[in-house]
This record gives sequence, structure tokens and C-alpha cells, in this order.
Amino acid sequence: MDPILSTAILAAQLAGSKIKHYYHNFDSVEVEHKGRNDYVSKVDKEAERLIINTILAHFSDHEILAEESGIQEQNSQSDFQWIIDPLDGTTNFLHRFPHFAISIAVAYKGELEYGVIYNPISRELFYACKGQGAFLNHQPIHVSQHTTLENALVCTGFPYYAFDYMDDYMKGLAAFIEKTAGVRRPGSAALDLAYVACGRVEGYWEFNLKPWDIAAGAVIVREAGGLATDFAAGNNFLASGNILVANPEFHQQMLEVLQQTTQPERLL
Ligand code: IPD
Ligand code: CA
Ligand code: CA
Repeated sequence: MDPILSTAILAAQLAGSKIKHYYHNFDSVEVEHKGRNDYVSKVDKEAERLIINTILAHFSDHEILAEESGIQEQNSQSDFQWIIDPLDGTTNFLHRFPHFAISIAVAYKGELEYGVIYNPISRELFYACKGQGAFLNHQPIHVSQHTTLENALVCTGFPYYAFDYMDDYMKGLAAFIEKTAGVRRPGSAALDLAYVACGRVEGYWEFNLKPWDIAAGAVIVREAGGLATDFAAGNNFLASGNILVANPEFHQQMLEVLQQTTQPERLL
């Protein structure tokens, strides 16, 4: 296996074991409040340290961007950048709602090339490497073949601190509730993307995310045959945090709904 991919998988599995340990020994978990509806626990921090140490043990010169530690400045000349969310779905974790994941991506010269997402509770490992397809527990996966909104299941993330997006968001949500078979808000952007990649849901959209929420999932969705774009069908989603993923035909229909319900300056 490609050494970058195997290192990303190893790091995700090591972090997964730690997170699972705390999930079953919950009394020792301390929580800090970062901001409105934004929490971090020692689990996030310890898992992130484990991931970073694993990466640096194999690729000491690579740049790292991680949610809790920011950029590791000493390696900022490298063409490789690792983008890490050690625990995506912290609110679920803190409520012992077993739906969260580790998300690790690697970009080369600014292009997303590798993605690994691991749910340590279900033990589902999603991964992809550019040009080589996407996999769930080593079996190939594909986006759903559904092409119409009717009968489709879609998922999303609700705004939880940037409430200036609320009006646009609610218009889009109302449209999808009316037009589809159902809308879900599972609580982990990384797993939302992974679920599109393996065809469990037809599409996913969310506003205002961070690169570590979506970088790995974008690679996995694309390698599974789907599209990952911003709401103007462009490639600005890592910077803007506004992301839409779906199979190509379904993506177009979701895009039309979002373009009808979102103010033009928020589409990018
Ligand atoms: C959050 C989850 C959630 C999404 C939020 C993210 P975190 O990540 O992915 O599903 O709606 O926008 O911030 O804070 O649990 O790592
Ligand atoms: Ca996250
Ligand atoms: Ca996180």
C-alpha cells in the first residue's frame, strides 16, 4: 500500500483506539468550552497528538494543519500538507451518541490526494487515494445511482454558531424536506461525506465548515464517483466551507435548489 495512505490509516486507527477507550471510560473525560456550542475534550487533544506523532515519525518534513494545534510552522515549506480532525462529531461523543470519526486528508501542492475517515465504534474505515477508487473496509464503494430528488435520502449539518446563515439555510432545508424522501442531521460532517461515498445517502450539503471537516471526505466522494463542490459548482469549498456532494446527476438538482434559496454572495 502507498506509504502515505498506510500511515494515515495507522494514525486514524491509533487515534480510534484512544477515542474508543474514553468512550467506554467516560468519567475521566474533561471538557473545555471553546465558544458558542463549541467544545473540546482531552480526548480530541490526545487523539490529535497521537496522529501528529505518527505522521512525523514517518514524514518528519511534511506540513500539518490540525484542528486543535493549527499549522505546524516548522514544516511549512513542504509540498505535502496533512489536514486533520482528530474527532469529528465531538458533540455526539460528549453525549455518548456513537456517531463520530477521525478524518485525515493529505494534499500535495494544494491538491487533495488522500482521504481517510474512521469510525472507531462501528469500525468502519473509509479511504481513498486519487486515481485509485474509494474503499470501505477494503471493499470498493460507489455513490448512489439515484438521479431524482424524489425517493432520495439526503443529509446535512445545521448551523450551530454562525447564525447569520440561518435564513438561507432554513429555506434550503425546507425545500429538501418537501422534495426528498428524508433529511438527516447525523452530526459528523466527515461521516456525512463518507455516507454519500458509499451510497447510503444520495447527497449532503452544509455551510461554513472548516477544511479538516471536509478535506478527507471530498477525496473519498470523488474517488467513489461523486462530485464535491461549493454552491456555485466550483472548487472553493475548502476555503469557504460551503460544500455540496452527491452523484453527478443528483448534484445538479441539489445545486439548483441551493442556488434558488441562497443569497448569491454566499454561494461560493
Ligand atoms: C462538527 C461536525 C458537525 C458539523 C459541524 C462541525 P466537530 O465538527 O462535523 O457535523 O455540523 O459544523 O464543526 O466540531 O465535532 O469536529
Ligand atoms: Ca469537525
Ligand atoms: Ca473536531
